[in-house]
Amino acid sequence: MKKYIVLAALLAAACGGPVRKNVPAYLDPAKPVEERVEDALSRMSPEEKVAMLHAQSKFSSAGVPRLGIPEIWCTDGPHGIRPEVLWDEWDQAGWTNDSCTAFPALSCLAATWDREMASLFGRSIGEEARYREKDVLLGPGVNICRTPLNGRNFEYMGEDPYLAGAMVVPYVQGVQENGVAACVKHFAVNNQETRRTKTNSIVGDRALYEIYLPAFKAAVCEGGAWAIMGSYNLYNGQFNCHNKRLLCDILKGEWGFDGVVISDWGGCRDDDEAVTNGLDMEYGTWTNGLTGAPSDKYNRYHLADPYLQRLRSGAADEATLDDKARRVLRLIFRTGMNQERPFGSFNSPEHYAAARQIAAAGVVLLKNEDGVLPLQVPAGGKLVVVGENAVKKMIVGGGSSSLKTKYEINPLEALQEAFPEAEVVWERGYVGDTSTSYNRVDTGQDLSEARSPEQLVSDAVAAAEGVDAVIFIGGLNKSAHQDNEGTDRLGLGLPYGQPEVIAALSEVCPRLIVVNISGSPVAMPWADSVPAIVQGWYGGSESGRALVDVLSGAVNPSGRLPFTFPLALEDGPLKTERQYPGILPEGEKWWQEYYEEGIFVGYRWYDTHQIPVQFAFGHGLSYTTFEYGEAKVSRKSLSAGGSMTVTVPVTNTGARDGAEVVQLYIAPPSDWVAIPGSLEDPLSRPAKELKGFEKVYLKAGETREVTFTVTPQELSRFDADEHAWVADKGVYRLLAGASSADIRAEAQVEFR
Ligand code: BGC
Repeated sequence: MKKYIVLAALLAAACGGPVRKNVPAYLDPAKPVEERVEDALSRMSPEEKVAMLHAQSKFSSAGVPRLGIPEIWCTDGPHGIRPEVLWDEWDQAGWTNDSCTAFPALSCLAATWDREMASLFGRSIGEEARYREKDVLLGPGVNICRTPLNGRNFEYMGEDPYLAGAMVVPYVQGVQENGVAACVKHFAVNNQETRRTKTNSIVGDRALYEIYLPAFKAAVCEGGAWAIMGSYNLYNGQFNCHNKRLLCDILKGEWGFDGVVISDWGGCRDDDEAVTNGLDMEYGTWTNGLTGAPSDKYNRYHLADPYLQRLRSGAADEATLDDKARRVLRLIFRTGMNQERPFGSFNSPEHYAAARQIAAAGVVLLKNEDGVLPLQVPAGGKLVVVGENAVKKMIVGGGSSSLKTKYEINPLEALQEAFPEAEVVWERGYVGDTSTSYNRVDTGQDLSEARSPEQLVSDAVAAAEGVDAVIFIGGLNKSAHQDNEGTDRLGLGLPYGQPEVIAALSEVCPRLIVVNISGSPVAMPWADSVPAIVQGWYGGSESGRALVDVLSGAVNPSGRLPFTFPLALEDGPLKTERQYPGILPEGEKWWQEYYEEGIFVGYRWYDTHQIPVQFAFGHGLSYTTFEYGEAKVSRKSLSAGGSMTVTVPVTNTGARDGAEVVQLYIAPPSDWVAIPGSLEDPLSRPAKELKGFEKVYLKAGETREVTFTVTPQELSRFDADEHAWVADKGVYRLLAGASSADIRAEAQVEFR
């Protein structure tokens, strides 16, 4: 083989073929990227530079045809590669070769608490993007789950900045190994869908730096993300796609981001600010992101003709233009003109296996009394499955993350596959969402129903009586006001009368198993009446099989909740309309939303105020049991610049192999912990905060030591006045636990 390559090279050289002399620097892959960027820039006219900065179609922007610099093609993201769309439209183009592997939703990935899974996800989706010749993947999303009602929680990585930050880094790196840019979204403080394009988030610096920015910072500074997407909302009274503080001061200033800021689709709103405030590429203008599809108006974008006019009149300077063009060129050399990038792969068996593995690793066993799970169905036995989510295909719908997949195995099919000797019967129980299409992708299901709600319940009860096992599979779906882009949920409870169905079933079936499929927390007032509860997620192509892997015991559950399941919405930190969903004060143009809870989001709120919850952050059971030994510290005190370790042995004390997620929380001296009414106190601290975690796989009987490193950074709070992280002197408790509410070992360190 080598012989032929050498021969071909010699022939090519002799005929003046591919071996070229005097190639310009920008075309020479051997030259450093920065040299190529400068060379290309020096050859470009202002018109060519501007042409690169705005869309030319729904998902692409022009390159520089005269110089042979290719276009940039973007794709959603973040759970799979979106079907090809028509040039100016959201609707799919109807190709027959663009059905992708659908990976689980990011809330499921976060629930794996496993950096390896994040890396596998990133690599796999990156390969699919690359194969489909996409340069930018619009994802992942790392907005914090501030309220369980946020319609896009399913696309994000939970309520804790440390967890989201730890998971986003390997995802970004995995994607970018393929020469595809990850575009981390939606920057920033974009924590609801209600009036997402009209709401100004008013958040103090402490909460900004401690809660809302760290995952973005990790994606940029540790993950090396090449692109970031500005969000639709406003912060500090300025739209985030051209928000000076967020983009110029923090992202490009403090964090030294050298990549491209991309507007969300339709998020760019102002000619001047688009130029001056850090935006580099503009997409989707005049749409709200979900609807509206103006044809052929791309030259009227803020960063198109209006920008050129500003340049010509002297109202805009060339240095700023060059900075934007430089960033876009850098992106192109990292992606489309990166000759080292692999070719990628699409729909490979490996990708489906990865999707299944990640989805199964994210399933959370919330409750399991009397060993109801794993499922035992004798050969010839009968298993009754109730609930719409046992059959409803969930990959289509929910907004821009909707996909067209080669296949989607639902839980009912997977149960039939896993228990071929048993009779597996389905009853609907309730009617939820009967829609089956999004952007002209249709699942082909017929979900119409003629029976009344009462009839559905009585049919389900009749089927469930006296059988070997009954599983209720319900939850939310991707329709409006569920887990859905563009709308928030209307309440915490399960919709469509599901609590009544569960109540009726639990009367006749004491060993009822409830599976909740959702991307955000739901209320479970019925929890005490059922012995087993499983949190499933939107699991992608292999969702049914992954869920059944856990139900059947083929996979020992190891998922942990990435957000708290409160008992009731009112228990949470958002108490007023000012906080959520915002108010429109007289005379104001935009809705104002006050993040008055500060840093007290999720378990930081519940733990600090000792409010009981249904299931705590980090909670998740296994079919085995784990015991924690004594926590040992490498030193008893720490000072600035120092570091220490805390080590805890963990033993699998059950009969099955399994994985434990060992979580390290740090608690400040108790008199610093906020009491209600003192939230504004800059010194007040949450009862504890996650500062480390490790997922350890342990064979039955095996013990391993888990070690966490602690530096003053992990003890710090962000001091808004000093604009710096500050570690206060005192004795901190280092808590190793199985959830934020289940601390198993404890040590101390003094910071002096
Ligand atoms: C969403 C983004 C998405 C973009 C392109 C917007 O509506 O907010 O997350 O990437 O559309 O589809």
